[in-house]
Amino acid sequence: MTGQAVCGFHPTQRVASRRQLILNHKVLLTGGAGYIGSHTAVAMLEAGLIPVLLDDFSNSDPAVLNRLKQLTGHALTCERGDVLDTQFVSDVMRRHQCSAVVHFAGLKAVGESVEQPLRYYRVNVGGLLSVLEAVQPTTCRSIVFSSSATVYGDPATVPIDETFPYAPESPYARSKLMCEDILASLAMSDPSWRVGVLRYFNPVGAHASGLIGEDPSGIPNNLMPFVSQVAVGKREKLRIFGKDYPTADGTGVRDYLHVCDLADGHVAAVKRLLSQGPGFTVNLGTGQGTSVLGVLHAFEKASGRTVAHEFVPRRPGDVAEYFANVSLAESTLGWRASRNIDDMCRDAWNWQQKNPEGYRSETASTACELHAA
Ligand code: WQD
Repeated sequence: MTGQAVCGFHPTQRVASRRQLILNHKVLLTGGAGYIGSHTAVAMLEAGLIPVLLDDFSNSDPAVLNRLKQLTGHALTCERGDVLDTQFVSDVMRRHQCSAVVHFAGLKAVGESVEQPLRYYRVNVGGLLSVLEAVQPTTCRSIVFSSSATVYGDPATVPIDETFPYAPESPYARSKLMCEDILASLAMSDPSWRVGVLRYFNPVGAHASGLIGEDPSGIPNNLMPFVSQVAVGKREKLRIFGKDYPTADGTGVRDYLHVCDLADGHVAAVKRLLSQGPGFTVNLGTGQGTSVLGVLHAFEKASGRTVAHEFVPRRPGDVAEYFANVSLAESTLGWRASRNIDDMCRDAWNWQQKNPEGYRSETASTACELHAA
């Protein structure tokens, strides 16, 4: 498809103060049609920023653009192409004169990364290098990077703060740490770069409208989408990996974070960098741990459905307990998660019920003429 949708977002409300600084700034979201990218695009529009999506749709569906138009009333600009195509990314930066970049694009399945390490390093590390080489000749010097709490590996204690030692245990986690190192080296070589690194814990849930949400292809690796598919009748039962962990109920504990809180964290990060704040590396979580059984019971309450399950042996590579110390994100970004596990399950179920087959039920987008590379 050719052509170029122009985002007609012109905030009518003008509010003096720092917000004035960021109004109408365009922000490039690589991987912007994905789960977290699409939710971040909505949050950015609400904050007076203009998201420019860049996606090859290898792990997302163009139909999300229809949904974003329905949700925001705006036809977002979307550039279809591969972040590894540096010339394409450079053309996009030139066309849109973006003031900041949020780099979401990448592969994120831990188990798959063990089987396909070269692909993960190529896409995750090569993709960041390509984006940075495209941005470097421009005046844009603000970049937010989507990193992961897996850089900490299996922590000696919890909660985990940003001073904890690195112990990445998969090519996926190592690729994230390599990207962080590349960004640190770049900022060291040229202090005009402002880098924000966000280490996600476990993003779950969906926008309250049920128009956008998590749409994994095939059998979900992650807990929340699997539970959701059992509740809606798409899967027979949940296999709970391990009931013998040293936790309150014997099942694994994680720091689940509502994807809309995560999106708000990205807006806070971009606002800080655009207002010339220094770079940072922060954990994005709630600071609360919830067990697998805790998620299951919360989901049953939210959905009114029984989630059939059985206990099976531990999954290799899993750790017992994993949740964040989020005080640095609060002090650095003025950000704190506001939604709890019940909100996450309510919104995840709302999305699942309204979209039993995810986005696959829709045809390609008419909301946004895609600019093919
Ligand atoms: C959560 C808990 C499982 C599925 C992963 C990635 C990590 C990050 C977030 C990118 C664990 C249990 C799960 C199932 C289960 N993604 N579980 N049955 O493993 O904490 O983190 O997603 O950054 O990189 O590793 O999330 O949702 O897979 O598992 O019992 O069918 O649910 O054992 O205790 P995880 P998860």
